[in-house]
Amino acid sequence: MNVKGLIVLVTGGAGNFGQAIVKSLESSGASVVIMDLHELNKENYYKVDLCNEQQVEETVNSILIKYNRIDVLINNAGAIYSEPLINIMNPKQMRHSYDSFKKYVQINLDTAFITSSIVIEKMVRKRIKGVIINMSSISAVGNAGQSAYSAAKAGLIALTKTWSKELGSFGIRSVAIAPGFIDTESTSFALNDGIKKHLLKNTPLKKLGKVDDITKSILFAIENDFLNGTVIDVDGGLTI
Ligand SMILES: NC(=O)c1ccc[n+]([C@@H]2O[C@H](COP(=O)([O-])OP(=O)(O)OC[C@H]3O[C@@H](n4cnc5c(N)ncnc54)[C@H](O)[C@@H]3O)[C@@H](O)[C@H]2O)c1
Repeated sequence: MNVKGLIVLVTGGAGNFGQAIVKSLESSGASVVIMDLHELNKENYYKVDLCNEQQVEETVNSILIKYNRIDVLINNAGAIYSEPLINIMNPKQMRHSYDSFKKYVQINLDTAFITSSIVIEKMVRKRIKGVIINMSSISAVGNAGQSAYSAAKAGLIALTKTWSKELGSFGIRSVAIAPGFIDTESTSFALNDGIKKHLLKNTPLKKLGKVDDITKSILFAIENDFLNGTVIDVDGGLTI
């Protein structure tokens, strides 16, 4: 599938990855539409809380009135979150909060389910052979201190594989991207220097990835028509 001329919907398009994804798709000739909570002063931007099914449905309907179709959906919105299951340093509240577990599973997993189910229904009704790309993470294989985030990111891989089987007969492909540690503001914010050093030591390539490495994987996932149910690990070999 050639990226030129496609209508691509990017969730979380105002964030670090999102902005780079939008730029790379636009320079490849796609028309990009962004859904995010964060305000953006752009014509192709829709402010929406992706946890709210009604808001997402209304927004997708408005996008379709303006653009008529959505060929590619990139479920990129998310938020990293760390909390140990048992925190022995905090005897008053040792257990992981269930509220925060639900909140971060909702932000990282439910958002993709809500948006995809709405967009895919439109694709099927309009007989569009589209692509769904889910932004998972290296944490999907299990990361100590990240129960909610890891469970949600593993859930995204399960949805990718399930949809690849269920939607293949409509010609709709599903692909997951699983980035390792990429040099972005959210990574610097989430990781202290000690953890960064440890990660670099354990990454065969001995470096953090660049946002560019992610945007190239997205172009590849869109363009390769035989890719379906695949997880593209972009992690410098850390998970091998
Ligand atoms: N940065 C990394 O190294 C890295 C590594 C692995 C995976 N990821 C994943 O890649 C994606 C993008 O990461 P990033 O570094 O660009 O993060 P980011 O925080 O810069 O961007 C995330 C965007 O999602 C939006 N968002 C969050 N919740 C939302 C909601 N309920 N409704 C609408 N918008 C919402 C935010 O407003 C933000 O603009 C995330 O899913 C993240 O988990 C990032």
